[in-house]
Amino acid sequence: MTHAERIIILDFGSQYTQIIARKVREAGVYAEIHPFSISRAALEELSPKGIILSGGPSSVYAEGAPIPSFDVFSMGVPVLGICYGLQLIAHQLGGAVDKAARREFGRAIVNIDDTQDLFRGMSATTEVWMSHGDHVTQIPSGFERIGHSENADICAIRNVDRRIWGIQFHPEVHHSVDGKAILSNFVIGICGCSATWNATSFIESVIADIKHTVGDGGVICALSGGVDSTVAAVLLHRAIGDQLHCIHIDSGLMRSGESANIIEMFKTHFSMSVDLVDGSDMFLSRLDGVEDPERKRKIIGGAFIDLFDVEAKKFSDAKFLAQGTLYPDVIESVSTKGPSATIKTHHNVGGLPEKMNLKLIEPFRELFKDEVRAVGRELGIPEWFIERHPFPGPGLAIRIPGAITREKLDILRAADDIYLEEIRKAGLYTQIWQAFAVLLPVRTVGVMGDERTYEHVCGLRAVTSTDGMTADWFHMPYDVLARMSNRIINEVRGINRVVYDISSKPPATIEWE
Ligand code: XMP
Repeated sequence: MTHAERIIILDFGSQYTQIIARKVREAGVYAEIHPFSISRAALEELSPKGIILSGGPSSVYAEGAPIPSFDVFSMGVPVLGICYGLQLIAHQLGGAVDKAARREFGRAIVNIDDTQDLFRGMSATTEVWMSHGDHVTQIPSGFERIGHSENADICAIRNVDRRIWGIQFHPEVHHSVDGKAILSNFVIGICGCSATWNATSFIESVIADIKHTVGDGGVICALSGGVDSTVAAVLLHRAIGDQLHCIHIDSGLMRSGESANIIEMFKTHFSMSVDLVDGSDMFLSRLDGVEDPERKRKIIGGAFIDLFDVEAKKFSDAKFLAQGTLYPDVIESVSTKGPSATIKTHHNVGGLPEKMNLKLIEPFRELFKDEVRAVGRELGIPEWFIERHPFPGPGLAIRIPGAITREKLDILRAADDIYLEEIRKAGLYTQIWQAFAVLLPVRTVGVMGDERTYEHVCGLRAVTSTDGMTADWFHMPYDVLARMSNRIINEVRGINRVVYDISSKPPATIEWE
């Protein structure tokens, strides 16, 4: 997409870099993340209205410290340095940086010395989030101090003539109370951007883009039932109507009634028809006796591709394949490649476009998950759907450790259905990031009536998280747990014991496989 106005965030390895981009976008301005090592030519090509230097774990004096290969301060646009970014300003422009006598992590109070530009509208003091070792001890010449704290005499600086600002704290972090105002003051007040980036403006321009790219060709969309592919399908339908062909493959690994619900929602809400393909025989026969989780994932990914290939060939006009790829998967950033990507091979329809000779359409390549949700709401997708917990591509296959059978799948579906129903009834669904039942590959002894039973154990998992990279177990109220356990054991044949998972991630993962 072309953007009339954009802010470029140079990533120096901060864990918060993505949050900076999200907060700038919340202020109504489009922001993009690039590695600090971007070339001057590439940066010029992006014609930013302003540049933000992120924080980072390094010391500017450390060997191999991330330092841009050119002078970012001479691009002719305003620059805001955050934490490491501030230290880089001081280091490169003639100031001095020192190891802080006291490292500062967590909340701190900053005294504001000037409210003309970056701190416009703020009071004399503000609560901020600090996370740094080094600090600036000498202001570069031509700069002036605009903020200080008890711990750091130089907390914020500026050079109005050169249009450079630097702050020691992290305005992007929720705990910085005026953080949003500071970022907004920078991108709107200082860089002169207009606050026009929002779901509605995104939809308008992406629809025009899609029409232009697609022409009169057909587009195929693999509907998984998740939020991203659903919002993508509705958006594409709005852009190109019947040129869009939606296919939903029921792998036999979906939750109770899920495939039917998806088809129904598209029909009633959007008058869109979706081809439902029953792939359960193929998936389950290929998975027969397979115990290794990674092999399961590979088999499932392969089966999706094979089946989809056959179905898609039925549409002779198809030239494009739509995918709900999100920005975090695209960013070539120093800090965003988390470890989970390599621990498990997450399934997607990768490999398909090459095999089928289709071009990719990825309308959400530039969006974060919450922005996709906002687009979905704007397009009229019902709230219960938008708020759905994430569901993994391999479905219930990775929630039955060991070999999968139809019988086990049916037992798990029934238990999971009750579990989610009770969560919803208790009004807890939106407080939880992801919740599901697991069918454990052990049988334990129980007693029902006068009879001894020897049946499966059902594990219940519920976590809170912001992005799935780290997670904490949800503190489920005891009375709700009691109802869940009672109902699952009484209503689901094949389960005689229920346990609740109280592991956080790390060191556990969210899924059991
Ligand atoms: P873990 O278990 O790695 O899960 O803590 C983090 C998030 O990723 C989802 N997940 C998957 N999603 N294919 C997917 O599409 C997969 O193979 C896969 N494995 C885990 C998981 O549900 C959670 O939301």
